[in-house]
Amino acid sequence: MKRIPTIADMKAACRQATRSGKTLGFVPTMGALHEGHLSLVRAAKARCDVTAVSIFVNPLQFAPTEDLDKYPRPLERDAGMLEQLGVDLLFLPTVDEMHPPGAQTHVQVNELSTKLDGASRPGHFRGVATVVTKLFEIVRPDCAFFGQKDAAQVAVLRKLVNDLDMDVEIVVCPIVREEDGLAMSSRNIYLTPEQRQQSLVLHRALMRVQTLADQGERSAARLIEVGMQVIAEEPAARLDYFAVVDPNTLDPVADVTHGSLVAVAAYFGTTRLIDNILLT
Ligand code: PAF
Repeated sequence: MKRIPTIADMKAACRQATRSGKTLGFVPTMGALHEGHLSLVRAAKARCDVTAVSIFVNPLQFAPTEDLDKYPRPLERDAGMLEQLGVDLLFLPTVDEMHPPGAQTHVQVNELSTKLDGASRPGHFRGVATVVTKLFEIVRPDCAFFGQKDAAQVAVLRKLVNDLDMDVEIVVCPIVREEDGLAMSSRNIYLTPEQRQQSLVLHRALMRVQTLADQGERSAARLIEVGMQVIAEEPAARLDYFAVVDPNTLDPVADVTHGSLVAVAAYFGTTRLIDNILLT
């Protein structure tokens, strides 16, 4: 695995890798890798000839009050895991390399960026869209792999790629969960053992909603009511949103259909966790 810190070298390595017609799969990450990320890497390796991963904690997507400084950065551990999986190229740019002082250009997917997580994290998706646009231009992958856990991010990035006619296929991989149901996230390590137990309420609420939908309940309002009741049973959970939306537009739906997105975000202490299901 080649470790590459500069944009110029990463461009050269990616162009070289695809010169003979090989396909390039790309997994952008912020590091602190867990099984969720590794599942994306495995999917990329299964689908493409060459696999590139980036680790870059992108300051543009953090608000000043958020956890940029304390975000975990276990670089050697991450690199070891990627090496073992057989990743070919690991892009490790610095902040100055990606966002040099004086840069003025941002990419914003207007409406979608204000919904779900975008509503509670203003500017977050502008930061994500900007860095992902830059990464796509540097790597020029055939396919890029993202986790379904970040459902709103997926909607924003699909729209970005479509609106800007980018030649990259967005591949979305299922949420990977701990045995007890908690969706894997780099932020889970912030949880105290007590909060770790409390956080299970998110999965419980989603499962209750799925069961009700399986039993024929079609009213999104009723599903939201029940989901919120389950969350309320855990007083330590501070709910941010519980929503039933169209997964592409992120607009609320009145009646659920196959594929409606049920999404939840809540704080446990200062840690904000998200989770979702696509109704079957
Ligand atoms: O999902 C993430 O880890 C980040 O938002 C991404 C896509 C790597 C952009 O910084």
